Amino acid sequence: MESKRHLLSGSEGVKVRKHTSPMTNSASSSARYYLTTPIYYVNARPHLGHAYTTIICDAIARRKRALGIETWFLTGTDEHGQKIERSAALAGRTPMEFATAIAGEWRGLWDRLGLTYDDFIRTTEDRHVRGVQKLFSTLRDRGFIYKGSYTGQYCVSDELYVDGPAGTVCPDCGRVTETVSEENYFFKLSAFERRLLEFYQANPGFMGPESTRREVISFVRGGLRDLSVSRTSFSWGIPVPGDEKHVIYVWLDALANYITALGYGSDDPADQARFAKFWPADLHLIGKEISRFHCVYWPAFLMAAGIPLPRSVMANGWLLFDQGKMSKSRGNVVRAETVLEVLGADALRYFLLREIPFGQDGGFSFDALVQRYNGDLANGYGNLVSRVVNMVHKYFGGVVPKAGAETAAEIALRECTAKTIADFGPAFDELNFSEALKTLWVLVAETDGYLTANAPWKKPADRSEADHAALQARVLATAAEAIRIITALVYPILPDSAAKVWRQLGQDEIAGAAKKSFLTQIAWGGLRPGTKFGEPAPLFPRVEKDAVERMQNIEDQNSPATREAAAKTADATSTPKQAPAASHVPAKSGTATPAPAAKTGKKGAVVSEKSEKQTSLENAPVDSVGVDAANEAHAYETVALASSPAASAMQSPTPPQAAAEPQLAPPQEPQKISIDDVLRVDLRVAQILVAERVPKADKLLRLEVDLGYEKRQILAGIAQFYEPEKLVGRKIVIVANLAPRMMRGLESNGMLLAASLPDGAPVLAGFLEEVPLGARLK
Ligand code: MSP
Repeated sequence: MESKRHLLSGSEGVKVRKHTSPMTNSASSSARYYLTTPIYYVNARPHLGHAYTTIICDAIARRKRALGIETWFLTGTDEHGQKIERSAALAGRTPMEFATAIAGEWRGLWDRLGLTYDDFIRTTEDRHVRGVQKLFSTLRDRGFIYKGSYTGQYCVSDELYVDGPAGTVCPDCGRVTETVSEENYFFKLSAFERRLLEFYQANPGFMGPESTRREVISFVRGGLRDLSVSRTSFSWGIPVPGDEKHVIYVWLDALANYITALGYGSDDPADQARFAKFWPADLHLIGKEISRFHCVYWPAFLMAAGIPLPRSVMANGWLLFDQGKMSKSRGNVVRAETVLEVLGADALRYFLLREIPFGQDGGFSFDALVQRYNGDLANGYGNLVSRVVNMVHKYFGGVVPKAGAETAAEIALRECTAKTIADFGPAFDELNFSEALKTLWVLVAETDGYLTANAPWKKPADRSEADHAALQARVLATAAEAIRIITALVYPILPDSAAKVWRQLGQDEIAGAAKKSFLTQIAWGGLRPGTKFGEPAPLFPRVEKDAVERMQNIEDQNSPATREAAAKTADATSTPKQAPAASHVPAKSGTATPAPAAKTGKKGAVVSEKSEKQTSLENAPVDSVGVDAANEAHAYETVALASSPAASAMQSPTPPQAAAEPQLAPPQEPQKISIDDVLRVDLRVAQILVAERVPKADKLLRLEVDLGYEKRQILAGIAQFYEPEKLVGRKIVIVANLAPRMMRGLESNGMLLAASLPDGAPVLAGFLEEVPLGARLK
């Protein structure tokens, strides 16, 4: 039996339903708030897309706490399933070792970003296993689970059952599905079709934004079929109680984290009390691609088990990079650490929440990030704070003066502040973070304008000293008060910076204030005259354009693929036997100076100098990618190969052409290699599944190829010679054990082989007979 699949991800303009905000949902208890992120798969390392969802949750949690609401913020890692089992095997580790290492990275990043989660659940923990088994037993005891058999298609990457014949492509990720034929337990999802539709109708605020709601409803209206909820063909999962050869379907396992983390399934009274206190969740924040699991399967499981349903599920849009969803499989990821290192966590938080209207997809670029940082933070809020704090120090010895009687200008600023307070909260609570920040930055600009218009630093000749002192006091006290309110409101989004400003304004620690629900008492007038300001301190030092380059460089150097490439290539050069390419080391004098193997070292092998890349390219005949010297990827791959003996053997003995760069010596004589050397290059038959041009890279094609045992992405510099559409389906030869490399923000994992014609055109290597995918060339 097959479950019906449906794509619940669209990117049309979206709006959260106004009248039923998840934050103001009438059903929610105002004293407590429980919110969750999705739990993240441990087959990949965190990137900005994941950080986006988690940062939104953190901002909400901080605001809730600062409003005096007892908040529980849960995140964690999703560690079971076939995908993780395979990733661990590839890494040569047990699934548990593998999951523990990667889960540590996720948690470590959240800590570095200063995220204030209250609990971090791992699905391999006992508390979770126990809870999932209890949920499964409950569903079975209540008659909603039965045994049957399933033959059909399954996408391991998305852990998703897909309709269609063998070879069907997963509609979510585009990978070819696998055929599975198993005895399974089934959940009677079909029994919940009507109940779910009634529930959605009665609870219009249950899911959002509107596009998600529409898609979910149309999916359910299209008819629900029973869902396979166990697998027998692999073992990395939670055993079905009483029938241990089955493991529980990874989505049933994963979704249950929202209750097991609170204590569902535990006999401990403290756990039971926590569960009773916080369940049902107020908000499951998710990425839009997993709304079906959260809005259809999860409520159905809960209804079947007799457990109350969450109050809302809200889907954020995708963070895009290089025009595609930022994702490991596309290879177009940016790591949060990179932004953290150059601009800090607050800059990242501000950018993500200000730039992308919640629910919509949003493009990420280093340029846009730096522009927002300089424009809104350095020149906007940061500059305003610095001007006012410095002037209070300069003119009043750092002590807040008495403002005195208001003039029309102060009344206007006070009213603008009141309006901001009135508008900011509801916008934020409706998840319209971008609107909320826009509103707040109107107040930043108004305060700045007020300061400039009244110019307390400039005494006109016709103004008396006393009048000027009164104006300075009035203007600075008023501006400082506006800053206090701006800072309180922005605290959930810029917690570190707000803490610094709070200190400069002579207030207690903001974290302490947040615990005392300070956001409920921020009305005008809170900054008392006589308050002693703290020392001025820089908030957002302006950055130059090179910050973009710095981030790009860090990203290129630290991306997992590059690290792996560096490590592998370094390994390959660590013994003299493996480093025969001494003649490719540029000689300082421009003459041939064969270097000892050790001197080629790691750097020589990874090669960043242009001259090395170029020369290697010129020497590479059997390399379709290498025909294009302007193609960085190509150059790299050739050089990486050149660091291995077999690769050297593949190079033409043709001497390098004369160039302005230092001359490299040709090999003295063609190097002979052993059969072992040849076998070190893993040449395989692959089939092209996807071929497309890479935006803004005339010469590059992005290929997805199937090796039979795995699929991967390769970038090849053949766009000027091959129409992408004509390549799909073609069987080619690739170097399968080439270290991966990032190019144009995409990972290239392998290299195509082609004959190189005299004019430089490549002709892809292929076969006249039928060959199976993955077959090795020896
Ligand atoms: N393990 C499942 C979720 C189980 S929840 C019970 C899963 N994990 S995931 O690691 O693949 O992705 C988790 C979430 O990361 C996505 O749902 C989404 O919230 C976030 N994102 C991953 N890539 C993203 C973008 N490029 N943009 C925005 N969010 C992204 O699915």
